[in-house]
Amino acid sequence: MAQFLWSGKEELPDIVKEFTYSIEDDKNLFYYDILGGMAHTLTLYRGGIIDYDEAKSIIDGLYKLKDKNDINFSLYEDVHTAVEIELTALIGEPAKKLHTARSRNDQVSLDERLYLRDSLKEVLNLIRDLIKAFLDLAGVSLDIIVPGFTHLQPAQPVLISHHLLAYVEMLKRDFSRFYSLFPRLNECPLGSGALAGLDFPYDRFLVSEVLRFDTPTNNSMDTVTDRDYLIEYIFDALLTSTHISRFGEEIVIWSNPLFGFVKISSGYTTGSSMMPQKRNPDVAELLRGSSGEFLGYLDLLLVTLKGLPLTYNRDLQMDKKVIFRASRSLHILLEVTRGLLENMELDREKICKNLNDEFLLATDLADFLVNRGIPFRDSHHIVRDVVFYCQENKKTFSQLSEEEWRKFNEEFLNLPDDFFSFDKAINRRDTYGGTGRSCVEYQLLLNRKWLEETRRLIDALPEVYMEDLVNMIGK
Ligand code: ARG
Repeated sequence: MAQFLWSGKEELPDIVKEFTYSIEDDKNLFYYDILGGMAHTLTLYRGGIIDYDEAKSIIDGLYKLKDKNDINFSLYEDVHTAVEIELTALIGEPAKKLHTARSRNDQVSLDERLYLRDSLKEVLNLIRDLIKAFLDLAGVSLDIIVPGFTHLQPAQPVLISHHLLAYVEMLKRDFSRFYSLFPRLNECPLGSGALAGLDFPYDRFLVSEVLRFDTPTNNSMDTVTDRDYLIEYIFDALLTSTHISRFGEEIVIWSNPLFGFVKISSGYTTGSSMMPQKRNPDVAELLRGSSGEFLGYLDLLLVTLKGLPLTYNRDLQMDKKVIFRASRSLHILLEVTRGLLENMELDREKICKNLNDEFLLATDLADFLVNRGIPFRDSHHIVRDVVFYCQENKKTFSQLSEEEWRKFNEEFLNLPDDFFSFDKAINRRDTYGGTGRSCVEYQLLLNRKWLEETRRLIDALPEVYMEDLVNMIGK
């Protein structure tokens, strides 16, 4: 059986075949190559380029081919070759017309765009699910106060819900980045030919519409050499995974028994092969480690495109080493992150017991003086002296006597009794976007609305059903 859509004088040596074939990766495009082939055939027929019987036979054949599960893909150079030769085996002569007015150069871009379109939709769903998991945890944890950190040093008390909602903001930006890629991705390459366009009456607007693209691409030369859509997808994945890596690191820290903020259920930790007492946060560590993979992919793609002359060059096939792995890894990453969130429990008791560092309220103390008319810079110095004094004398703020306070500033005698309550401190931070409980509750509300709105956005994204294409030829 033929292995190529072209022929040379000599058979390629096996090592050259292995070097040049993309089939091991691009067989993942089988379904999309068939879908694109159907829309292409329909367009050939509507343009009078092939007749009804030929078109009908090709489309029915392709539809049958999609379920053939004993194809030996390894025989073929790439998926486009596999589909055409397998179709020929199935329906004979008409299959030879399938590649009329089409080059693998526009075909591969089409397949990738269709594949990424589905992947993107899945990614949007998964990010949304992950956001929901963050919101659910934040929603039931409004009573938990933790030290917030800068430089990983205890800084000011915050609601843990506020901390969790910070990730929601990152993920919403990720969502919107992926979503905004859609119009650039959703342009139809078919009809560009090898590079110069076609000398057939081929309706590019029709094929674009049939496959539910927004528009045909504008320049055939750009079309067959453009991989920006994939690069953008990978960058978006990289940034998403970078956000997730930060969360992974926090869970590693939070789950350390010395911290003890969080207990991870045993399904999401692993044991040590040597130390029986240990539970290791491997899942969180791998979340932390995940972004390197996407950075590598981005590097590979950008290096491939750099300095590449127009138009199609075989270097572009390197994208197959990226697209499927990246998409799969991203889907798994998002799903596992959600799983981890749903399988961990914040240790209220331990967090509350350990929240005893009144120095977290040093800024509040300085602000108190400011509210009594003392310039912030002075109040900062005064409170710094109080802190030094407490540290030297092993005291906390609330253990200082009136006499001791007076030494630093008379105004301290006006401190309300409950001033050093962490809860009060939280609720003082009630500017928009702050950690005050009412502010956090408001953000929770806005985010729940966001969930509803984005459900509608995702549902409105285009979907193509193969069966519809089969039916169209009948009309
Ligand atoms: N396997 C090729 C790729 O992934 C398909 C396009 C081949 N085109 C060509 N002119 N040889 O890029």
